[in-house]
This record gives sequence, structure tokens and C-alpha cells, in this order.
Amino acid sequence: MAATRSTPLPVVVLISGSGSNLQALIDGQQQGQLPIDIRAVISNRPNVLGLERAEKAGIPALTLDHTVYADRDAFDLALMDKIDAYSPELVVLAGFMRILTPTFANHYLGRMLNIHPSLLPKYQGLHTHRRAIEAGDEYHGVTVHFVTAELDGGPAAIQARVPVLATDTEASLAKRVQQQEHVIYPMAVAWFATGRLLMQDGKSMLDGVPLPASGHLIDTCDH
Ligand code: GRF
Repeated sequence: MAATRSTPLPVVVLISGSGSNLQALIDGQQQGQLPIDIRAVISNRPNVLGLERAEKAGIPALTLDHTVYADRDAFDLALMDKIDAYSPELVVLAGFMRILTPTFANHYLGRMLNIHPSLLPKYQGLHTHRRAIEAGDEYHGVTVHFVTAELDGGPAAIQARVPVLATDTEASLAKRVQQQEHVIYPMAVAWFATGRLLMQDGKSMLDGVPLPASGHLIDTCDH
């Protein structure tokens, strides 16, 4: 296991929207439960709520509008420059709605986390709540995983499982999943910040032991 660090882990958070997961990280940090220093929040969309949340917390809030770049490569290279100016040891994708180039993913390999609203490897991509309801699934959930060049395909660190109820709409199911997002993302970031969680040989390791493919499982469906 890595030695305990004496300074908070420098982090950059990437967002595209409301930033409720960012808020969970800010709250954890402010409550002294998360030994991180969020050095910057960067959004690819201007004027989103997440940027306001960052400003309110006194964190530099930047916009890098992907629409003004010629192509995906140009945007990702500019974004890498912006991120690296803050020398983060961890990049946190918190609702960052962009497909990443392999160059970008590989540059941060082992030091970039994402949260995806499904029980990966199920439902990679978009509209996960709708797809789970339409498939008649009994369970749904959310995964925190390391990012690799494969979309939503990196090794999982934590999964939270929630029930799908007969009465669920996309919105009600999304809400139940989001409650768990705000629990498991700070948890995974805390593990990484304290050296407990790392990616090795393509696997997530916790306390020196490989995690199962699903990651550490938090099951809210236990009766
Ligand atoms: C979350 O549902 C997350 O799982 C997905 O994007 C959404 C971001 O929400 N990747 P927020 O911006 O953190 O509120």
C-alpha cells in the first residue's frame, strides 16, 4: 500500500452540466472527509450550474468550449494543456459528456476516474436509465471506474446497485441512482487520495488486492 501523504491530493474536475457530483466532492472536502485540493473545475459548456458551484466554493472555474475547436484532437490537446497547468494527480470526470481521444485517455491512465450511471459493463453510452426500464431489469445502478481508451470500459472501482421499481419513470430511477453517485464518488476519490485505490496491470486494486470486475459492491437492494 502507498505511504500516507501529508498534503491533500491535487485534483482537477471536468464537468458539462449541473455538477451535483462536483458538489458532493466539494462538500466532502469542506467537511474534512476528503483529503483533496480541487485546483480547478473545467467545463466544455459555458454557463452551467457546476461552474457556479465551483465559484461559490472559491475554486477556479474555467470554460473550454469544444465547439470552437476544429476537431476532437485539437480540443483534447487544448484541454490537456489547461488541466496540466494545475498539475493534478487525479482528474475527475463528473458528468463530462465528451468522448475522449485515446491520446487524452492514455495521458491520464491510472489517474483519471469517471462515474457512469449503469452497472457496467451493462449500458455503456447514453440513456442508461431508460434502457434499464425498457429491458425490465430488476436492478440498476452506477459505477465509478478508471478511464481507459475504451469508452466506459476501464476497470471498476465501486458499483452501487439500486432496485428498479414497477412504478419507476426515467426521472425517479435517475434520482435513486444519483443519491448513490453522491455516496460512491467521494468514497472512491477518498480511497485514491489516501493511496488505497490504484490501477495496476489494467485492474483496480484496493489495499493491494485486486477488486472484482464489478469493483467494490454497495448493494442497496438487500432486504
Ligand atoms: C451523472 O448522472 C453521472 O453519472 C453522469 O452524468 C451525470 C452528471 O450529473 N456521468 P452531475 O452534473 O454531477 O449533476
